[in-house]
Amino acid sequence: MDLKGKIREIQDFPKEGISFKDVTTLLADGEAYAYAIDKMLASVEDVEFDVVLGPEARGFLIGAPIAYAARKAFVPVRKPGKLPYETYRFEYELEYGTDVLEIHKDAIKPGARVLIADDLLATGGTVESIIRMVEEFGAEVVGCVFLIELSFLNGREKLGGCRAESLVYY
Ligand code: PRP
Repeated sequence: MDLKGKIREIQDFPKEGISFKDVTTLLADGEAYAYAIDKMLASVEDVEFDVVLGPEARGFLIGAPIAYAARKAFVPVRKPGKLPYETYRFEYELEYGTDVLEIHKDAIKPGARVLIADDLLATGGTVESIIRMVEEFGAEVVGCVFLIELSFLNGREKLGGCRAESLVYY
């Protein structure tokens, strides 16, 4: 299936010079959505994992169905102030400034094997910070799966050699 053809490109969003990859058009096609999730899961069929971790918000759209299909746990990484229990807060670098994400303190057990799932690998800053956070919990990221990888941004270099699979490349 031509997944790239299902992704809508919006020029100059959210700012001039950026060609935004809009996955809502792919999600709106039930066959394409299911196909993409199945393929992402198949790309890591040799990887043993206990938990799928997805960053808010688009990471939920990818990570939760992968966890469901694999019959594994799903853990959300959220934007600040959303999680009700005690949280672990981690900052990461953006092109200009920093951003913050949070996870419940008891969400990842020491020794857990974590699969990160997201719609997009761009600069790699988000996943790099999540990998570091998972390690601080005494757990291990055993793989990452992305729907889209913007190869020209070299985000993969930030993953420290972690296994990473993407379906569609730009
Ligand atoms: C997007 C995307 C990834 C991240 C990738 O999320 O869903 O999580 O950016 O970028 P990076 O590789 O440069 O870190 P965004 O922060 O826009 O949030 P959203 O999912 O709520 O739209």
